[in-house]
Order: sequence, then C-alpha cells, then structure tokens
Amino acid sequence: MSNKQLRPPRPVESERIPLKARNVSFSWEDTPLHWVPGDPFTTHTINVLHLLLPAGERWFVHVYKQALPLIRDDRLREDVIGFIGQEAMHSRAHDEVLPHLRALGLDPTPYTAQVDWFFEKLLGDRTLPPGRARRWWLLERVALIAAIEHYTAFLGDWVLNAAELDRRGADPTMLDLLRWHGAEEVEHRSVAFDLFTHVDGSYRRRARTWATAFTALVFLWQRGARFFMENDPTLVDGKASFRDFRRSGRRGTLPTTGAMVSSIPRYLSRTYHPSQECSSAQAVAYLASSPAALAAERAVS
Ligand SMILES: [Fe+2]
Ligand SMILES: [Fe+2]
Repeated sequence: MSNKQLRPPRPVESERIPLKARNVSFSWEDTPLHWVPGDPFTTHTINVLHLLLPAGERWFVHVYKQALPLIRDDRLREDVIGFIGQEAMHSRAHDEVLPHLRALGLDPTPYTAQVDWFFEKLLGDRTLPPGRARRWWLLERVALIAAIEHYTAFLGDWVLNAAELDRRGADPTMLDLLRWHGAEEVEHRSVAFDLFTHVDGSYRRRARTWATAFTALVFLWQRGARFFMENDPTLVDGKASFRDFRRSGRRGTLPTTGAMVSSIPRYLSRTYHPSQECSSAQAVAYLASSPAALAAERAVS
C-alpha cells in the first residue's frame, strides 16, 4: 500500500456552502423519557449522542484550534473557523439534555466521566516536546476527526430522512435537535477531510485512523446504549443487544447494519470525498424550517 494519494479525492464543488453557527436553544420540559413512544431501545441508542458529543465535539474544537496555524489556504481557514463555531454549539446543545435526563431519574454521570477521560486524557494533548512528535500526534487527531466526521455526516443524512421516527410520534423537540445538528453535519461534511488532506492526506494514515475511530465508536456506542437500558428507572432488566439494533434498522428507527457496512469502503476509496455523499440542498432546506434554527435567526435580526 502506498503512503501517498495516487488518485486525488474528487470534490463536488456545488455541494460547498458557507458555514455559520446558529445559536439555538431547546426546552426539554415536555420531552418524555422515552421520546420515541414505546421504544426505549431506539430512544436510548440515539440518546448515546448526548453522552458522546459534548466531550467529543469539545475535543474537535480543541484540536482544530491547534491545527489552524498549519492552514495555508484562506478558504479552508474560513471553513475550519465555521466548523469550530458549529461544533462548539452542538456540544453545548447536547450537554443541555443531560440535566433533563437526570431529572427523569437517569443520571448519565458515571458514563460521561468515562467519555470525558477518553477525549481529554487518552486523546488529549500529551506532554510531547515541540517538533516531530507533537506534529505527529496533531496529524493523527486531525485524521481521526476526518474519519469520525464521515459518520456524523452519515448519521445526519440518516436522521434527516428518518420518516419512521415521525410516523411513530417521536418528540418534536428532540427530532429538531437531531435534525438541526444532522443538517449542520451535512453542511460541513467536507471540512474535516479537506483539512486532513491539506495538512497530510496520507492514505495509510487515513485507513489506520478510520479503523481506530470505527472501533472506538462501536465500542463507546454499545456501552452507552447498555448503560442507558440498564439504568432506565422504568425498565426491569433493561438490555441492549445487536439483535435489537438490527430490528430497529429494519423498522427504520435506526440506521440499517447494511448501510453502516457499505459506508466503510466508500471512506476507504482513494477517490472518496465527503461532498460525494448526502445533499447540502436537503440540509439547507431543513435549516430553513427548523423551529430552533428559525428562533435563533429571529433572535439575531
Ligand atoms: Fe456536530
Ligand atoms: Fe461535525
């Protein structure tokens, strides 16, 4: 396997849009514990986002602030600054769901403490001397973020199209949080990959960090779903299994296993570029009708 890009990625220029952070807020008083009615497994599998994203997206912002001085392209710098603004807001919005879960009897602290350790210590700044080692660790983390963003865009696209959640009467405020976030993930889906390509772009690093990111995401996600199911005060002997996941995928309340598996070779294709996936027009259309995004717009005008 060569360490260099033999064929360059193929961006779709028309999919690029200027990025802006929307200062959204949500009221959780009326959102029930099982916000997908009668379906605690789907509810809690999606709730894992509230456990992972506050620390995860804070970490993105932290790493990208260190990467900014490496950028030699004004347009990319503007995109990265827009990305930082959006991710900081996402982190905050998901964090604000946690007190509501606590009030409903589901205290996520034991799990979020582990996630905080994962992002802040394991993936944090190490005491490396300035020079090659410090740069290597920064490039590894920039590549990891590009791989994770392949999945945030995948999930964003999925939730924008998950009509089954509406059919089952999912809580509108939670759906708006997920779709506002998902739409912004689709809007900025190319930024992390473009930054990685700009500062390094090595295929070997891309493949290696994909394997790390995918393994970590699967591990953290199934642990988080199990944590919620086991600690849900309304469930007796709550469990989360892969069989439940597959069943929810078939019903359309979670992504299908097949869609997740087929996303792997796309990221590992040498001509992959995130702009080939999802639809910026769909994301923009959702943001033009999102109650939270519209309220944020009214607040600034
Ligand atoms: Fe995000
Ligand atoms: Fe993102």
